[in-house]
Amino acid sequence: MTEPSSTELPATASPQVEFISLSHLNPSTELNPVPSRGIDLAYFRRYVRWLEESGYDYTLLPYGSNSADSFVIASAVGQLTERLRPIVAVRPNTAFPLVAAQQLATLDQLTEGRAVVHIISGGSDAEQARQGDYLPKDRRYDRTSEFIDLLRRAWTETSPFSHSGEFYKFDDFGPGFAPYGKTIPISIGGQSDAAFEVGGAKADIFSFWGEPLADLRSEIDRVNGIAAAAGRADRPRIWVTFRPIIAQTDKLAWEKAHDYVAKIERTFKGGNYHKRYLGTATGPQNVGSQRALEFAAQSDVYDRALWTRTAAATGGAGASTALVGSPETVAAAILDYVDQGASLVSIRGYDTLADAIDYGRYIVPLVRQELAHRAATGQRGTLQADHPGALAPGFDLATSAGSR
Ligand SMILES: Cc1cc2nc3c(=O)[nH]c(=O)nc-3n(C[C@H](O)[C@H](O)[C@H](O)COP(=O)(O)O)c2cc1C
Repeated sequence: MTEPSSTELPATASPQVEFISLSHLNPSTELNPVPSRGIDLAYFRRYVRWLEESGYDYTLLPYGSNSADSFVIASAVGQLTERLRPIVAVRPNTAFPLVAAQQLATLDQLTEGRAVVHIISGGSDAEQARQGDYLPKDRRYDRTSEFIDLLRRAWTETSPFSHSGEFYKFDDFGPGFAPYGKTIPISIGGQSDAAFEVGGAKADIFSFWGEPLADLRSEIDRVNGIAAAAGRADRPRIWVTFRPIIAQTDKLAWEKAHDYVAKIERTFKGGNYHKRYLGTATGPQNVGSQRALEFAAQSDVYDRALWTRTAAATGGAGASTALVGSPETVAAAILDYVDQGASLVSIRGYDTLADAIDYGRYIVPLVRQELAHRAATGQRGTLQADHPGALAPGFDLATSAGSR
């Protein structure tokens, strides 16, 4: 790996980066859970409009058996914003592929080409069973593979076609309702072998939760290897997800991080925050969560700013790994991932709305400024060298966060 202090750009560096958030429907957070199952419309409107104002490019509408419906919310996001792209999380068990294709094409037309789909094969058998899906996980990925093929055909075939596959059968469909653009980007979430096989071969975007840089590097190589073996000319875009904790200085940010993790631990121990992705009493069944917990067991801090205590505190439930530091340090840490090839970066705070506003003010412009510098000069700027964070010689977590 090239030293982050060097001005030379690694060959793997992405020349562009786009930012993703996740749309919150009410002010409840892991820090301060508010008992509610509903949509606070004023809050939701404000949240998505701020995302657009803050320079975000996308927002994820997650899917869970007891969450709001991701399609309906995505449609609202489209109408509340002008530019923000809704990423609809879709579990293949919830809709016949041609129906999902129709819903996505409708959303794409309604948003003039902004729709993206994130396909969730399902990480927990118990959660899948809640909506009548009893396939084991590897078979769920086989179904995802056929589902993706049918989405693409439904959007592009110009004459009627029939299909008799392993999971789906139909006659004389089409041409279907077409998207606004030529097609709709398809993203895959999941870290099991089956997820890599399907995503590497077929997805436009492959997504990760925050991992140490060296681990992410080898995972990206794996995705690219599978894409090459599948005969693809292109490679999936890489999406990586963090929960940054920022303050004016690195020291203040680490103090805040320790306060946050104490609150998050209280929330999860109290059992009053719902654990959507957790599998069984013995731990999560999905590999993404298992990896998050393994990283946390090995070290609290990795690289410049990656902090795993929040992942441990939530039991690895969903995206939970933090980046901790001043805006400069966190922007530099994001650039470390961009250097590895990430071109989609999800940053969503534990203090959801306030953090979205802060990231828009203090992080997004720094990353964009560095990329503009790189585009103009072909070299790294000084941000990464000037803000080493936890890479600084003598960095010590205990002293950096005060006497804790
Ligand atoms: C960025 C990202 C977003 C995700 N969003 C969801 C979601 O909205 N709903 C859900 O059930 N799982 C979500 N997942 C979890 C996985 O996609 C899911 O557990 C996977 O299908 C199976 O896990 P595995 O392949 O890692 O074992 C997300 C994963 C990632 C990386």
